[in-house]
Amino acid sequence: MKRFNVGVIGATGMVGQRFLLLLENHPWFNVTCLAASSSSAGKKYKDALRRWHMSAPLPAKYADMTVMDADADREKIASAVDFCFCAVNMKKEDIKQLEYAYAKLECPIVSNNSAHRFTPDVPMVIPEINADHIRVIEAQKKRLGTKRGFIAVKSNCSLQSYVPLLHPLKKFGIKCAAVTTYQAISGAGKTFETMPEIVDNIIPYIGGEEEKSEKEPLKIWGEIKDGEIVPASGPAITAQCLRVPVSDGHTAAVFVNFENKPSKQDILKAWAEYRGVPQELELPSAPKQFIHYFEEDDRPQAKLDRMTENGMAVCAGRLREDNVFDYKFVGLSHNTLRGAAGGAVLLAELLAKNGLF
Ligand SMILES: NC(=O)c1ccc[n+]([C@@H]2O[C@H](COP(=O)([O-])OP(=O)(O)OC[C@H]3O[C@@H](n4cnc5c(N)ncnc54)[C@H](OP(=O)(O)O)[C@@H]3O)[C@@H](O)[C@H]2O)c1
Repeated sequence: MKRFNVGVIGATGMVGQRFLLLLENHPWFNVTCLAASSSSAGKKYKDALRRWHMSAPLPAKYADMTVMDADADREKIASAVDFCFCAVNMKKEDIKQLEYAYAKLECPIVSNNSAHRFTPDVPMVIPEINADHIRVIEAQKKRLGTKRGFIAVKSNCSLQSYVPLLHPLKKFGIKCAAVTTYQAISGAGKTFETMPEIVDNIIPYIGGEEEKSEKEPLKIWGEIKDGEIVPASGPAITAQCLRVPVSDGHTAAVFVNFENKPSKQDILKAWAEYRGVPQELELPSAPKQFIHYFEEDDRPQAKLDRMTENGMAVCAGRLREDNVFDYKFVGLSHNTLRGAAGGAVLLAELLAKNGLF
């Protein structure tokens, strides 16, 4: 595989920093350009940072790079790199326009933002589940009038702790699922210092999260028709999303009903055997085993298990029959790795392997 020059837009932010760490020694991707808002532009990266949020130290290779202005320097950035990752904190409409602008400058964008998740010809991809949706990019490029510029997005972090576990069970006909997520504070870009109100507490509201958690799976399970992704009509998912005092790792308590109720062994087998395109292609960031089932009654735990396979695997446990639904179980995934930057890097690897950069 050739090496690609990569830009990170939003490089000074929490997700941007995670991108930089993940890409430090990446075999295919070499970060050559860092961009952020006009207030960071022109500064050395180490001076532009308000705070380095990662526990690993800032890699030396980035410290003295000059931060560019994501808006004013976009032509310069687009012509200097093969593609960009984007994770910015701006108004949704402004993010949409920024990402379109890069795509139209023939710079593919792999986005962590939610702005384009429901643009019908923008694929929203969990690579183990709907890698085939990247075929819609051809229609998107036609609409944008571009040769190589396009936008591809990843889904919301909350989904990662239950959609990958429901997906291998779709062959049993999922009628409906009820999910409660217990979401880490890093998902809100916070730490215990910056969110002291979460200590000894649970906050029963995360703006917009329940709608995303119910609606995004249907696009992921949708089909391409006439150059657009048409969302699936089911299974219906109802979700409650709670913010809990955990630094990293979203947990989900899941209840599910089937058309054809499988045995517990059938479910465990479906999880154990499930492999997606990233495993088949042996993409560099792909976990070897996508779903890890824990037999112990008190697992998976966020603190113990979120880093399973470098934080890229999905963990499951406590599968048992229920007296209202058919089954219940618990899922866990690392929200800033699999659920954010790591998921986007895996998506970029899929796009690279398919010749889209
Ligand atoms: N945190 C998570 O776990 C998580 C998970 C999933 C999705 N996301 C999404 O990822 C995105 C970034 O989140 P975050 O937590 O990394 O945010 P963050 O820490 O607040 O960082 C925001 C980044 O956006 C840049 N930015 C702000 N205004 C800009 C502008 N007008 N033009 C260009 N760049 C601008 C900032 O640059 P300056 O430093 O120069 O201001 C900074 O680099 C958001 O859309 C968020 O919803 C986050």
